[in-house]
Amino acid sequence: MNKEQQEIQAFIFDLDGVITDTAKYHYEAWKQLAEELGIHFDLEFNEQLKGIDRMASLEKILSQLSDGGSSFTLEQKQEWADRKNNNYKRLIRTVDESEILPGILELFHDLKQAGIPIGLASASRNAGTLLRQLKVESYINVIADPESVAHGKPAPDIFLKAAEALGVDPRYCVGVEDAEAGVQAIKSAGMFAVGVGDAEILSKADYIVSETSKLSLSEIQHYMTGR
Ligand code: BG6
Ligand code: MG
Repeated sequence: MNKEQQEIQAFIFDLDGVITDTAKYHYEAWKQLAEELGIHFDLEFNEQLKGIDRMASLEKILSQLSDGGSSFTLEQKQEWADRKNNNYKRLIRTVDESEILPGILELFHDLKQAGIPIGLASASRNAGTLLRQLKVESYINVIADPESVAHGKPAPDIFLKAAEALGVDPRYCVGVEDAEAGVQAIKSAGMFAVGVGDAEILSKADYIVSETSKLSLSEIQHYMTGR
């Protein structure tokens, strides 16, 4: 967004690691599977999987094997992806509104007050379930369906889909992400990127906060107009 295009017309949020800390459950669920397969898995490797869809994440894990995982059939991979998802579903069963990250409800509220619509651009097929459990559905105007886009993050598709569904030009959208791939997706979509987390990992974002409690609509607007 340049000076002539400062007006924010929509906010588009990632879910896992932004609205709620489910990134830790994805990590746990992949770790369980990787250990069953005898593949080393740690937090550093997990960073590469943030924002990446289920099958692409499995491919990255299997690529650590000496043959790059090329000997496995699609059926076998599908079974492992399902197994990870079952691990994950077990871990998120008890998630409720107490797991909404700090500052998120306040930001949703401020956006609503300002008449700025909210879109969701999550790669997760469990997003609908989580939004229901977190009881934040009423704030979200549009959920982009990850199954309806050709390319996952870091491609811009899911953010563009959300903007299109909101009827807003991407140049007037602010995207919020905790993952490097997600920030890349926002930038490729031509949006203003807000990164939440490690400034080094999210260095391509236009504006970075270390944690969700530091997200503030007025601060972001102020930053954008002051540039
Ligand atoms: C993203 C997460 O939001 O969703 C990834 O950051 C996850 O870790 C991806 O793999 C897909 O999620 P799911 O729930 O469909 O397996
Ligand atoms: Mg995320």
